[in-house]
Amino acid sequence: INRATSALLLFGATGDLAKRMLLPSLFALHEDGLLSPGLRIVGTARSELSDEAFREMAREALAEFLPDDRKDDAKLAGFLDRLSYQPLDASKTEGFPALAQKLGDTSGGLAIFLSTAPFLFEPTIAGLKSAGLAHEGVRIGLEKPLGNDLASSCRINDAVASAFSEDRIFRIDHYLGKETVQNLIALRFGNMMFEPLWNAVGIDHVQITISETVGLEGRKGFYEDTGALRDMVQNHMLQLLALIAMEPPADYDAASIRDEKVKLLRALRPVRAAEMVRGQYGAGAVEAAAVGGFVDDLGEPSDTETFVALKAHIENWRWQGVPFYLRTGKRLAERRSEIVIQFKCVPHNIFAERGGKLVANRLVIRLQPEEYVRLQVMAKEPGLDRSGIVLREVPLDLSLTEAFAKARRRIAYERLLLDLIEGEQTLFVRRDEVEAQWRWIDAIRKLWVDENVELKRYPAGGWGPNAAIALTERDGRSWND
Ligand code: BG6
Repeated sequence: INRATSALLLFGATGDLAKRMLLPSLFALHEDGLLSPGLRIVGTARSELSDEAFREMAREALAEFLPDDRKDDAKLAGFLDRLSYQPLDASKTEGFPALAQKLGDTSGGLAIFLSTAPFLFEPTIAGLKSAGLAHEGVRIGLEKPLGNDLASSCRINDAVASAFSEDRIFRIDHYLGKETVQNLIALRFGNMMFEPLWNAVGIDHVQITISETVGLEGRKGFYEDTGALRDMVQNHMLQLLALIAMEPPADYDAASIRDEKVKLLRALRPVRAAEMVRGQYGAGAVEAAAVGGFVDDLGEPSDTETFVALKAHIENWRWQGVPFYLRTGKRLAERRSEIVIQFKCVPHNIFAERGGKLVANRLVIRLQPEEYVRLQVMAKEPGLDRSGIVLREVPLDLSLTEAFAKARRRIAYERLLLDLIEGEQTLFVRRDEVEAQWRWIDAIRKLWVDENVELKRYPAGGWGPNAAIALTERDGRSWND
């Protein structure tokens, strides 16, 4: 694969993602000297903007989304100099030759990032092909959603594959760009102490929670058609699950890591109707402020789920009998992404005769908003208690924010854009992974219909429907709240 890049072409350059994430991330890469001096950034979208007007838009976006201490004028000017713009209606091939002309010679390598509505993927690929912008030196990054079921995702993948070989396709799951998510791999495979217990012998169950306090956030059409299962579980949560549960790869490279992830995804057993909860938020209070329900936000009745909880099973030797409880939702009690590894109890409690109770170890990996790893261990309480030993659960705490205090918190897209520009695929999702993810998700959606899985209302500001709590309690377990 040709890894050189002389230009980055950004589709959807005037959109929300570009303003909030992509331009600030590119600026950060520029600021840190990670972009080659000659790299040009060409934006394209429907709006008729001049180069100058696009730079002005970028300047405003950076003013809004960069912290004040990073607004160095000289660096900003240097960054804006890289930018230019070409208006384009990507649904028609006519405009593409002018785009190619704007880009000029792309034989030095071109990276393309598609941050557009999914219905534009296929015409965009056709346009790129017709204008000679899909040659061997071109790589393409695709932002989600990549379809809304297996069939539509295959259609998109086929269209992209008609112009780009798989080693030039970069499917984005922004969770993989998060430092804390990459840290899961470091934690598991950079330490001796976890891996020998990381299986059905040592672990009772695993929990993955991505809870959000936000609601619909002006994404009416999209969210109504998508829902929490497809918006969060199909991609981010299954990627987290795969990283936690996969077998040790032989190397930290794209093929090894993705081979292991796909094996794991294919080992997911179809979920049963009794193992899933669908919910939708009603009115309530989030962070002490009263908020309306989903249908109020939407302005019409809807049976789209804004919450899902699932009990997943992995059918392989390592995980036989170990449930993975997943839950995600909007308008919940707090914003939190975390993974909880609940270990088993010790096989024999030597303190039992003296009244000593043991609590099984629990490893909490908090991805956001705080970043820490906390291992709950049993310790003796200091003192002269007559029993001779009083035990208590205490945290062994590692704050990643403190341990790496000097490191700037990065946006996930900084890593991903840099990797796209440099042709490094490890943190991108391969076609077989996406398809394994959709296969599992489609089966869940089919059950919702076939078995009439009820949509349960939950008040905004809590932890979702009671049925989600029952999902763990029924098994004698509980969420880490
Ligand atoms: C996106 C979803 O992929 O991820 C959003 O479409 C969600 O609905 C977001 O809010 C969450 O990302 P993060 O990085 O804020 O956890």
